[in-house]
Amino acid sequence: MTIAIWNSRYETGIEIIDAQHQDLFAAVNQLADSFHEGRAQDQTGPSLDFLIRYTTEHFQTEEQHMREIGFPYWMEHAEEHTRLLEKAEALQADHALGKVVTMELVIFFADWLKHHINDVDLQYVEFLKEQRRED
Ligand SMILES: [Fe+2]
Repeated sequence: MTIAIWNSRYETGIEIIDAQHQDLFAAVNQLADSFHEGRAQDQTGPSLDFLIRYTTEHFQTEEQHMREIGFPYWMEHAEEHTRLLEKAEALQADHALGKVVTMELVIFFADWLKHHINDVDLQYVEFLKEQRRED
């Protein structure tokens, strides 16, 4: 079940970031699949764990990149990452305690990802383009 469809609007032009964003879309869709196929609660755990682990890794890559290019708002951006991870980890803990994770969670992840890439990530992409124009 595809709920997060990649499209060129999401392209940052930075190879590693684009590859990771596409992997995140795939991970969200994989989690959606585990619900769609009605897999047991214990089988959605690994998909959720993978999504959170990969998101954490991706955020580290992005934050390092923002610091490297001297993006002045990298801390605010990193705070948004932290807020999502806190929320995701709280849901993961609920899941581990046996609380059923619902499709709304998957939709939340998909919406967050699309909004974040389009509205937040593209700010440092614009900054990078400006820098290159000035050089
Ligand atoms: Fe980001």
